[in-house]
Amino acid sequence: MSIPYGRQSISEADIAAVAAVMTTDWLTMGPVLAEFEQAVAQLAHTPAATAVSSGTSALHCAYAALGVGEGDEVITSPMTFVATAATAIAEGAKVLFADVQLDTGNIDVDSAAALVTSKTKVIAGVDYAGHPVDADELSALAHGAGAFFLEDAAHSIASTYRGRPVGSLADITAFSFFPTKNMTTGEGGAVVAPDAALVERARRFRSHGLVRDKAEQRYPDEGPWHQEVHEFGLNYRLPDVLAAMGLSQIARIEEFKARRTAIFDRYTAELADVDGLILPAKRDYVDPMWHLYPIRVQGGRRREVFEFMRAQGVLVQVNYIPAYWHPAFEDLGYQRGMCPNAELYYEQEISLPMYADLTHDQVSRVIEVLRAALAA
Ligand SMILES: Cc1ncc(COP(=O)(O)O)c(C=O)c1O
Repeated sequence: MSIPYGRQSISEADIAAVAAVMTTDWLTMGPVLAEFEQAVAQLAHTPAATAVSSGTSALHCAYAALGVGEGDEVITSPMTFVATAATAIAEGAKVLFADVQLDTGNIDVDSAAALVTSKTKVIAGVDYAGHPVDADELSALAHGAGAFFLEDAAHSIASTYRGRPVGSLADITAFSFFPTKNMTTGEGGAVVAPDAALVERARRFRSHGLVRDKAEQRYPDEGPWHQEVHEFGLNYRLPDVLAAMGLSQIARIEEFKARRTAIFDRYTAELADVDGLILPAKRDYVDPMWHLYPIRVQGGRRREVFEFMRAQGVLVQVNYIPAYWHPAFEDLGYQRGMCPNAELYYEQEISLPMYADLTHDQVSRVIEVLRAALAA
């Protein structure tokens, strides 16, 4: 049996929660969605949350809520999935890539600072592997430039930074609930913010920009059926069926975190003496919920180790090709060599299997196969 790099953990309670919603009147836009949003907000220590159909739609709603548009610049990390940048581009912004810290893979604050201009609208950090970014410094940098600090927390729900939960750190934060993530709704995501008005703007964008509140409408006397659109949005709604899965999963989040932490600690202890590897760094003021276990293979051997492990049924992954290496960016004129740390990190990186249901024996197997790959 092969071992994937990430996988969901589904309990009988999760299944029962989904099934229960299927016989109600509310498959979508119902009370379970509202309950799930409350649970996400509670976890993030924010006044509200808007649940959406994916991490990508969460990012898109977040940029839209911040008013990102033509003429704006968004500074972000290349060490991410393309969606962090693509959704800013979808809103008409120009994306600038700052380099990363070589040890954490997170955006480097000085590198971001060097890119700030009068057009900077958002500085978007990505909590790579689950490790929170330097939130206080990025927040100060963004606010000093009259910009917003957005946190792409696709990897890091339930992580904390200086004792504060991810979600409460930035002006706006996007979560992903894809199956490999820290918790899942199948597909899904959420937007949270300390300012409830921003969460409401994201909520409106999620549902076509529809304005239903008579007090806000331009033509409130049109009739009781009337709703109107003031700014365009899309349909990024999360069905109640999936919100039910999320609600059940979020009740298990500390169990998931404990398991991921134990796996992280075991890899770190048992791989410490292996030559040719660099293990992930952790700042002492964060408590990550580890989404990935990113190792860096020295000596130009990444591909060889990757292929050896895959052939042995350990389905390791690489996270990430620097975002601007994608041909879509290349065609816009972005050039390789721009962020040397991100490129070096990418050239060495392999993500070992990391998920709550990974057993003790499977972790032993991953370690054994990795050691064999390096000894080969
Ligand atoms: C850092 C990061 N941002 C955004 C996303 C997009 O999330 P989703 O796959 O839920 O759309 C992902 C998921 O792969 C991600 O890893």
